[in-house]
Amino acid sequence: MPQAGDFELATVSVPEPGPGEVLVRNVYMSVDPYMRGRMYDRPSYVPPFQLGQPLEGGAVGRVIASNGGPFAVGDAVLGTQGWREHFVSDGRGLRKIDPEAAPMSAYLGALGMPGLTAYVGLLEIAALAPGETVFVSGAAGAVGSVACQIAKAMGCRVVASAGSAEKVAWLEREAGVDAAFDYKAAGPGTRGLVAALAERAPDGIDVYFDNVGGEHLEAALDRLNLRGRVALCGMIAQYNDAAPPTGPRNLALAIGKQLTLRGFIVSRFAREFTPRFVADMARWVGEGRMRWTETIVDGIDRAPEAFLGLFRGDNLGKMLVRVGPEA
Ligand SMILES: NC(=O)c1ccc[n+]([C@@H]2O[C@H](COP(=O)([O-])OP(=O)(O)OC[C@H]3O[C@@H](n4cnc5c(N)ncnc54)[C@H](OP(=O)(O)O)[C@@H]3O)[C@@H](O)[C@H]2O)c1
Repeated sequence: MPQAGDFELATVSVPEPGPGEVLVRNVYMSVDPYMRGRMYDRPSYVPPFQLGQPLEGGAVGRVIASNGGPFAVGDAVLGTQGWREHFVSDGRGLRKIDPEAAPMSAYLGALGMPGLTAYVGLLEIAALAPGETVFVSGAAGAVGSVACQIAKAMGCRVVASAGSAEKVAWLEREAGVDAAFDYKAAGPGTRGLVAALAERAPDGIDVYFDNVGGEHLEAALDRLNLRGRVALCGMIAQYNDAAPPTGPRNLALAIGKQLTLRGFIVSRFAREFTPRFVADMARWVGEGRMRWTETIVDGIDRAPEAFLGLFRGDNLGKMLVRVGPEA
């Protein structure tokens, strides 16, 4: 588990924007579980963070100066230069967003990368069909909360797990899942989770949307129906493990049940799926079928605290850091 002392807050001067450049003031920055993976020095789908260099990640901000740059002063933009208050850019990697259509913060959560992850994971990776029973772990987080509601909007039965009674109540009341449980109170190990699932989905599950891995994955394998599908989205339970865990110990169940387990990285699907995602989300939001909430931590100096909080379950909905005012 990383410690607050592993992070350094550095004050540097920001240059004036050169010709064709803009100066952006960040408003919200995202902290995401995948950033933990970038803290290992190993080959991956994104290169590791570098010691002594600023971290990066999703952020939304306002253009506050332009030297003939691609955006006007006042424009709201989405980009990947989080973990800082200001930056100069030639516009590459920045996209204009509409703060009238949705709050700026939503572009980092339900309407942004985490929402798209839920969409791709269910529709493309797990090939979810109406009427099926879906189990979502990490269900009260950014990805999980959208996954639950997409599955509901598609006419599925949804069972959800999360790490507190408050999260369970939110899932049942706001996200409209059919049944939710607190996995920390479910009884020890995989066996406790299997019992919790069996009680809430007595006819088994057809799709498992995995945000957690470990014992959750084992329990889902146990309860999956014939030709069930697993969208391997994340395994946050093991991101801080010093050694790779053994298991899932019951993977052989995948043979007899003819299961499909498929991992995915959302960025690979972004171009193809974003237009459909935006259209479907706009409709679901308009119909009142999609709700989201956020946990907002104030101040760039508290960004490490927000990030580390992801691994303690401090967040309900999307975890964000507000680094400056919206206006
Ligand atoms: N494949 C992709 O392209 C992609 C894209 C985005 C995200 N992801 C993955 O999707 C998952 C969710 O990401 P997110 O951004 O939506 O984060 P999030 O769910 O908003 O936040 C992380 C949550 O994980 C739960 N958690 C932490 N440690 C846990 C543990 N040991 N066991 C069970 N639950 C634990 C906590 O909730 P509780 O209180 O419920 O424990 C915490 O709130 C992560 O695994 C992430 O890596 C994958």
